[in-house]
Amino acid sequence: MAKKDSVRYVCSNCGAVSATWSGRCYNCGEWNTLQEQLDVASKMTHQKGHTLATQTVTSSLAKDHKRLTSSIEEFDTVFGSGIVAGSVNLIAGQPGIGKSTLLLQLAHALAKKYKVLYVSGEESAHQIGIRAERLGVNQKNLQLATSTVADDIASTISANAYDLVIVDSIQTVSCNDIASAAGSVSQITNSTALLTAAAKQSGTALILVGHVTKEGSIAGPKVLEHAVDVVLQLEGDRYGGFKILRAVKNRYGSTNEAGIFEMTDTGLQPVANPSAALLAERQASDGSVVLATMEGTRPLLVEVQALVNRTSYGYPKRAASGIDLNRINLLVAMLERRTKLNLSDQDIYINIIGGIRLTEPAADLAICMAIATASRSMQLKQNAVVFGEVGLSGEVRHVPFIDKRIAEAKKLGFDLAIGPVTRTGNKDRFYQSVRDIRSTLNTYLGKD
Ligand code: TYD
Ligand code: MG
Repeated sequence: MAKKDSVRYVCSNCGAVSATWSGRCYNCGEWNTLQEQLDVASKMTHQKGHTLATQTVTSSLAKDHKRLTSSIEEFDTVFGSGIVAGSVNLIAGQPGIGKSTLLLQLAHALAKKYKVLYVSGEESAHQIGIRAERLGVNQKNLQLATSTVADDIASTISANAYDLVIVDSIQTVSCNDIASAAGSVSQITNSTALLTAAAKQSGTALILVGHVTKEGSIAGPKVLEHAVDVVLQLEGDRYGGFKILRAVKNRYGSTNEAGIFEMTDTGLQPVANPSAALLAERQASDGSVVLATMEGTRPLLVEVQALVNRTSYGYPKRAASGIDLNRINLLVAMLERRTKLNLSDQDIYINIIGGIRLTEPAADLAICMAIATASRSMQLKQNAVVFGEVGLSGEVRHVPFIDKRIAEAKKLGFDLAIGPVTRTGNKDRFYQSVRDIRSTLNTYLGKD
C-alpha cells in the first residue's frame, strides 16, 4: 500500500505546527486557526549528498551586489539604500492603507532605469489602468499582468526578463499542485517558496504584498515573515493622517529607517517637513504637550493631548488613541503615587495627533505632563518640547537620540526642550534636564 501523504496542521495566527487537528491552537490559544498543510519535505527520500562547494565571503559579495534605486529617497532609505537584486521583499499593511498605490508609484519610478513587471491578482488590468492614469504612470518599461497562478508567475520570473517583479497580493495567488483555497497557509507558504526560488535563481528582485489582520500580524502566516529577506510595514490611519512605511526586518540594511507619506489625489507623496505639518493646527491649551519622538532615525514633533474629567459613574474610564492603554494605566498609577495629583476619580483620555502610533518609552514624560496640565487646567510655563522615559519610582530616564530631538525642537522655533540628564553633560541653555517627575511638574507647572 502506498504511504499516505503526511499532513500537518499549521496555526495561521502563530505558525505553530501540530500533528493532529484541534479546535484551538495549543501555542497561542486562538480558536479555529489550524489549517491543513501537505508536508512536502517528508515525501523526499534521503539520497547520498555531495560535499558543499564553498567560497570566501568577499568573493560571494562581488557577484550579486546590485541595488535597484528609485531616486525617491523616502523609498530607497527604507529598503536600505535600494532594493537588492534577487531579494524577496514583503510589504504588509491593512486593506485600503495604500499598498497598491505605493507600489505602482515605486514601479513607475524604478521603470525609468529598470524593467519592471506588476502582477495583480486583485484588480483587473482596466482598474489598474485607471489608477495608473491618475498617478501619471506611463513608463514603457513597466509591464502589467493579471494572474493568480503562482506557477505562471514563477516561470515568468525565471525567464529573467525583468529586474523587478511585484506581486499584489500573495493572498490571492495559488499553486496548481495544492488543492486548498487561495489565502490558506499552505497556499501562501508554498507560493512564496515557489516565487522565492525563481527570484533567487534568476537574480530578480521580488516585492510581495501581504494583507494584515486587525491585530496587526501578517495575515494568515506569521511564517511568511521569516521566509522573506525584507519586511516593510505600511502603517497609519486609513482615513487621512500620515502613512508610515517602516522596515520591520531587513537582511540588507537597518530596521531603523522609516518613510513618512501623505495620501493625496495623486497618490502617496513624501512629507517634506512632517513636524511642521503635525503642529500646524495646534492650539495652546491645557492638556496639550509637544513630544519629540523618533520615527526611525528621524526626529518628529507630535502633539500629545490629554483630557481629564471627573468620573460620573463609579469606575473611572481610561482610553487612548495612538498609544498602548496599558502604558497609560501604568503612568497614571505612577503619577498617583509619586506626585500630588489625584486621579483615582478622574476619567482620562489620551490622543496622539495625526494618526501617529507611539511605541517608544520616550513618550512617557510628555504623557505625564499632558495628564498633569489637563488635571490642573494649566499650561506649561514655556513653549517647550518634552521627551524622556519615566520609571515607576518617578525617575526620568535616558533615551536615545537626544541631540536629534533637541535640534528638531530648535528648528521649529520652540523656547526650550525638557528631557533626561545627558550622559555627556549639558552646556546648552536651550535644553533643561530633569531627574524626576515630581520636581519637573513643580518647575514647569507651578507649585501645588
Ligand atoms: P490602495 O492602494 O488600493 O490600498 P491597498 O492596496 O493597501 O488595499 O488604496 C488606498 C486608498 O487610497 C483608497 O481607498 C483610495 C485612496 N487613494 C487616494 O486617495 N489617492 C490616489 O491617488 C489613489 C490611487 C488612491
Ligand atoms: Mg491593493
